[in-house]
Amino acid sequence: MSRFISSAICALFVCSICSTVASATDLAAGKTLFDANCAACHKTGLGGAPKLGDKAAWAPRIAQGIEVLVNHADNGYDGKTGSMPAKGGTTLTTAQIGDTVNYMAEQSK
Ligand code: HEC
Repeated sequence: MSRFISSAICALFVCSICSTVASATDLAAGKTLFDANCAACHKTGLGGAPKLGDKAAWAPRIAQGIEVLVNHADNGYDGKTGSMPAKGGTTLTTAQIGDTVNYMAEQSK
């Protein structure tokens, strides 16, 4: 029994390492994509874009849920502060937009 428990704990531990690595990889991809495609507006606040790392600007946005943010970034969004062009005017895939939005939210909370 105790052997079962310890191997179960071990499996859980290995799993948690896996998911940490997976999300770190996505966030790293998101950073690269952000720097190349989104920084022009989201580093400077151009046109009313919420700046990376601006917790006050991001808190109510993050509160909508990550799916809403990804959807807005993917399809475009006219909000209270300005206009977010669909995919930031790029041809990124929805998965790439997802990585990038996760990175942005992670850096801004
Ligand atoms: C031309 C400038 C511009 C570019 C480039 C741009 N954005 Fe935006 N983005 C905006 C503006 C302006 C807003 C604020 C819209 C509002 O809430 O009024 C915004 C808002 C957002 C939001 C918040 C949406 C919400 O529901 O609050 C996300 C997420 C986002 N952008 C992601 C991205 C990603 C990812 C990229 C790069 C692929 C990108 N943006 C590129 C201007 C830009």
